[in-house]
Amino acid sequence: MRLIIDTDAGIDDAQAIMMALAHPGVTVEAITCVTGNVHVDKVVPNVLTVLDVMRADVPVYRGAALPLVADWSPEVHVHGEDGLGDWKDRPPTQRHAESEHAVNALIRLANAAPGEYTLVALGPLTNIALACQLDPSFPSKIRQFVFMGGTTHAMGNTPNLTAEFNIYCDPEAAYMTLRAFPLSTMLSWETTLQHPFGWPEWNALCDTNSPAARFMKGTSGVTVDLIQSYRFNGYLLPDPLAMAVALKPDLVRASGTYYVTVELNGAYTRGQTVIDYRARSGHAPNVHVVQEVDTAGVYALYQQMLA
Ligand code: BDR
Ligand code: CA
Repeated sequence: MRLIIDTDAGIDDAQAIMMALAHPGVTVEAITCVTGNVHVDKVVPNVLTVLDVMRADVPVYRGAALPLVADWSPEVHVHGEDGLGDWKDRPPTQRHAESEHAVNALIRLANAAPGEYTLVALGPLTNIALACQLDPSFPSKIRQFVFMGGTTHAMGNTPNLTAEFNIYCDPEAAYMTLRAFPLSTMLSWETTLQHPFGWPEWNALCDTNSPAARFMKGTSGVTVDLIQSYRFNGYLLPDPLAMAVALKPDLVRASGTYYVTVELNGAYTRGQTVIDYRARSGHAPNVHVVQEVDTAGVYALYQQMLA
């Protein structure tokens, strides 16, 4: 599998990237960065640090700094000031990003190997929408497009109560992306809520004796505190679940294919994914919505990446 990852890293993004880098038979050929959890100028060094930890060489590209239209400033602090949990033992990186813009890199790669790349998006879809706009043939050249984002039943995690964070950040980009790709795979916030790792299992992973595990434990403290303050029943895995189903589609236990679009207005609902479950809109289904995942299989991927 030839993989491109678009990310707003992000603690769970970092884990998803680690999972891909450790997966046999997968080459991560580019990582493109976008503003989301933190500004893209913080996302880039975060990704470079993940590559240091995993001793991997992958070109990294800086992408969009702002959403297409939305009047929204990043820095939500859920992932700490630096976006990687403000880990006090964080080592400095000597690596640098490429000079090419992320959107140009996405288009160049897709054109160089049409039908070859799996694209996994872990943040707001700004870079992806721009690639689709700049080169309308871009979606047809991507083998499979998987994204973490959206809600299946309007149970969001943002001030717009029904919207999930990645879509909330840039609703227009998500709208354009879903319209452009004939078939996307979506891993939603509710599917995330339904597939945590239990705390004993999570703690066992953190206690693995490896640089990757020490990094994961050191960077994830702020999200552990946040998740526990909300009394969720385990460690949540939004981006890692999306990556897991991209790497191993047989981990999907239940799914459905529906027409999905994005609410762009709505006093309370801007950024909500709208799903035509009963095929009433007349639109062709465009999104493969993942509903159940084999959590034990995802756990095995974590063990693999932390070994
Ligand atoms: C998504 O928002 C971000 O905070 C996470 O990295 C994930 O991509 C979950 O809603
Ligand atoms: Ca993310």
